Amino acid sequence: MSKANILIVEDDPLQRRLIKENLEQEDYTVFESASGKEALNMIDDHPIDIAIVDYKLDGETGISVIQDILEKNPLITPIMVTAFGNIENAVEAIKKGAYDYIVKPIDFGEFLLVIARALERLKLKKEISILQNSLEDKFSSKNFVFSSSKMEGVALLVSKASKSDATVLISGETGTGKDFVAKTIHFSSKRKNGPYLAVNIPSLPETLIESELFGAEKGSFTGAFERKIGKFEAASGGTIFLDEIGDLPSQLQVKLLRFLQEKEFYRLGSSQPLKSDVRIMAATNKNLEKLMKEEKFRPDLYYRLNVIHIHVPPLQEKKEDIPPLVDHFIRKYNEREGKEIKEISAEAMNFLLKYSFPGNIRELENIIERAIVFCEGSVITSVDLPIFLKDKKEEELIQEGLSLKDKVKQVEIREIKKALLESGKVKSKAARSLGITERILGYKMKIYNLFSDQEH
Ligand SMILES: Nc1ncnc2c1ncn2[C@@H]1O[C@H](COP(=O)(O)OP(=O)(O)O)[C@@H](O)[C@H]1O
Ligand SMILES: [Mg+2]
Repeated sequence: MSKANILIVEDDPLQRRLIKENLEQEDYTVFESASGKEALNMIDDHPIDIAIVDYKLDGETGISVIQDILEKNPLITPIMVTAFGNIENAVEAIKKGAYDYIVKPIDFGEFLLVIARALERLKLKKEISILQNSLEDKFSSKNFVFSSSKMEGVALLVSKASKSDATVLISGETGTGKDFVAKTIHFSSKRKNGPYLAVNIPSLPETLIESELFGAEKGSFTGAFERKIGKFEAASGGTIFLDEIGDLPSQLQVKLLRFLQEKEFYRLGSSQPLKSDVRIMAATNKNLEKLMKEEKFRPDLYYRLNVIHIHVPPLQEKKEDIPPLVDHFIRKYNEREGKEIKEISAEAMNFLLKYSFPGNIRELENIIERAIVFCEGSVITSVDLPIFLKDKKEEELIQEGLSLKDKVKQVEIREIKKALLESGKVKSKAARSLGITERILGYKMKIYNLFSDQEH
């Protein structure tokens, strides 16, 4: 089997034959062309991997041929052949997109090594592009599951943020889907073919955060044995996701702010400013307003980050999303486990709807994953659910036979009554414990005909 398809673009028939013979000995399939025009026709008709292009062609330069080839098919790797002593041509060719150059008279040992290296890179490039496509697919907006009006609002912001290049701040409890939102935005934005790099700030020791983000020169700190490229540099052309931004130490808050303002940063131990074209998205499960009041988070940084603010509500506030999410996770884990589970029983669903999900969607996903592994039949039943879900007092059960909307209403009424009772009927306190604003609590109390004694 041929190792790769190689196209020779060379107007000298003798030279062409020499290259062809050497390549064919190594089991490459060789195509020949004497001009740029012929080369472009060849590319249309054959799946070419590498193009060997001579610099001096009849009436044109190899550089313009390389540009034309890349314009037609950017996955082809061009290699320039140039006469000895014309290195500046080779440098120009590389600037215009050639992968490497070979000097005439050709040393075929070296020539074959260059080809092998180019193929190695090509393989990597193809793998990355496949990976990128599957990620794109995974985080396309069609996998963004919801039915609640709250998430409709989030989805609208996600779509707005995908069309923009502005900084995004995503807030919400753990497991609500903050990473998921950030990835969905990146993979539907114009940066989708660029890198997406995530940094979880609390997982890094404080002394390493700076070099991790901005890079470090060799010897700039103990343990810096060689130059380190930071995430800001590596993510150029793409997006960097700063997870748990509330934990960023204050001297790094200053550096991040400078980057947001000037698009410039310094490697640790260097005074040379560097630029990077990277979009920043940040997430937090902490209340940044509170951190600002406590002077733990800089307001100027907050306003720079908060250009587009997306708040992802906890699952408890959008129980309508549970059934479609359950369906989605059943499909996902059916595929992984090779099972054909069709649905979940009404009783089991009822247990899920009654549960508070402190771990939000992540917890729901784990519960369904586990249920799929345990489930023997074609329907998930309450037997497949963890014990703690079912360990509820009788009065907390929701009436059967109601529509989903009414069940959710019952849950809301029950939780609001409970919160009012526990807060001594102080509305502001109850609202806080429910994780909603006092205004929304007031609204809900009005529509459900619930009154706190404060008002009456
Ligand atoms: N709207 C959604 N639709 C489908 N899956 C979701 C959605 N939101 C979150 N998930 C899934 O829930 C899990 C937790 O989400 P993640 O983004 O890691 O949460 P967070 O960063 O807020 O802790 C992930 O496996 C993610 O794929
Ligand atoms: Mg996360």
